[in-house]
Amino acid sequence: MITLDALTKSYGPATVVDAVSLEIADAGVTSIIGPNGAGKSTLLSLASRILGADAGGVTADGVDVLNAPSRAVATILSILRQEHHTTARITVRELVEFGRFPHSHGRLTPECRAAVAEALAYCDLTDLAERPIHQLSGGQRQRAYVAMVLAQDTHYVLLDEPLNNLDMVHATALMRLLRRLADERGKSIVLVLHDVNYASAYSDRIIAMRDGAVIQDGPPSLVIAEDALEAVYGMRFRVHELDGDRVAAYYR
Ligand SMILES: Nc1ncnc2c1ncn2[C@@H]1O[C@H](COP(=O)(O)OP(=O)(O)OP(=O)(O)O)[C@@H](O)[C@H]1O
Ligand SMILES: [Mg+2]
Repeated sequence: MITLDALTKSYGPATVVDAVSLEIADAGVTSIIGPNGAGKSTLLSLASRILGADAGGVTADGVDVLNAPSRAVATILSILRQEHHTTARITVRELVEFGRFPHSHGRLTPECRAAVAEALAYCDLTDLAERPIHQLSGGQRQRAYVAMVLAQDTHYVLLDEPLNNLDMVHATALMRLLRRLADERGKSIVLVLHDVNYASAYSDRIIAMRDGAVIQDGPPSLVIAEDALEAVYGMRFRVHELDGDRVAAYYR
């Protein structure tokens, strides 16, 4: 379990994550939704200690994430950031191999090579493995970063907008894969999504943030509802049942 305990971050007078406490289950898919600026990325950055918290704590399987050695944390918890900036002239395979660093200490084992090959295949990148990442399209590059995080093979996987730049074929394939990793390998996946319908179809739990706070938290049947979504986004939605999923329409 990951426990966030009153995590808080302010920039000047603005408190952008305001004493957020959450418990994330050992296995399952948890989606975080909410408007731009709600504090979703800040919360994931605090939880993975990319960003220092002003107050609060984080534990993952009992490990004090904010104070443990980084290698200990990196074998339990991985994170895909919303923005990636790599100027290095490396190939897709080399990027994905970085995901093994906490395990390999710089020397790839046969297990590492197998994890890299599996992550490349999961992300439909096998044929692009030897291509320099600066020669990829935006969606291909996004998949390469997702593959790097999957190769890290941690129990807890935090993904900030992993569907960025993906076409619907690759977006759906990734959501199915994340669901399988939760169901078949018992991983706990936490991802930020803007598409509430992917959140609806694939999540066990949806956490909605607004103004630095959690304002909705529950299964899709509770959060993908017209009034709940209006409270999150401040606009009207129409919610329909379709093949057992709740589908929100919001394009008019
Ligand atoms: N370094 C910073 N300095 C000042 N304010 C910041 C900084 N980083 C983030 N913020 C502010 O914190 C708030 C939360 O930002 P955050 O990136 O967590 O939002 P988000 O929910 O991830 O939004 P998005 O959907 O646009 O990615 C925003 O108002 C943002 O402007
Ligand atoms: Mg963000």
